Amino acid sequence: MSEQLHQVTVTVNGVTRRGQTPARRLLADFLRMDLGLTGTHLGCEHGVCGACTVLLDGAPVRSCLIFAVSTDGHSVTTVEGCCDPDGELGPVQQAFQECHGLQCGFCTPGFITTIAAYLEENPKPTEEEAREAIGGNLCRCTGYQNIVAAVLRAAEILNETQLEREREAPHE
Ligand code: FES
Ligand code: FES
Repeated sequence: MSEQLHQVTVTVNGVTRRGQTPARRLLADFLRMDLGLTGTHLGCEHGVCGACTVLLDGAPVRSCLIFAVSTDGHSVTTVEGCCDPDGELGPVQQAFQECHGLQCGFCTPGFITTIAAYLEENPKPTEEEAREAIGGNLCRCTGYQNIVAAVLRAAEILNETQLEREREAPHE
């Protein structure tokens, strides 16, 4: 007997996407296999490593622990959506590049989404707070130092961009 499929409509990186999915298909598999967004990586597949982290309505979640059907009507941001509107590297991606925050890159999408959401909440973290912010993500290559530096650099970039916008805004 063929598996019953369910209609799912999700806004992914600002675009409405529709799919037919079995009830038990994981969000990570839906993103990667049905939508072709292979930036989201699957490591442990049981909620430990953080590689599969995406933002669900702006909050970081492990896409290996969520069924795609449960995201129907919601908004998902993947690492592909963490770029600037013009397609250039977004602030966290730019900071990772500048600070050499990756080696093999397997863990990177999960760090980028996690940090992007964290900086929305806390735009000026201390080094200790930056370490805490990435405490739920595992990296086997870097030793974390450059990732912590990337969190702090991303905060700088975001604050610089904000100041520029304020300077350019017309004065009344
Ligand atoms: S693959 Fe989801 S937490 Fe590791
Ligand atoms: S850069 Fe290789 S696991 Fe993090």
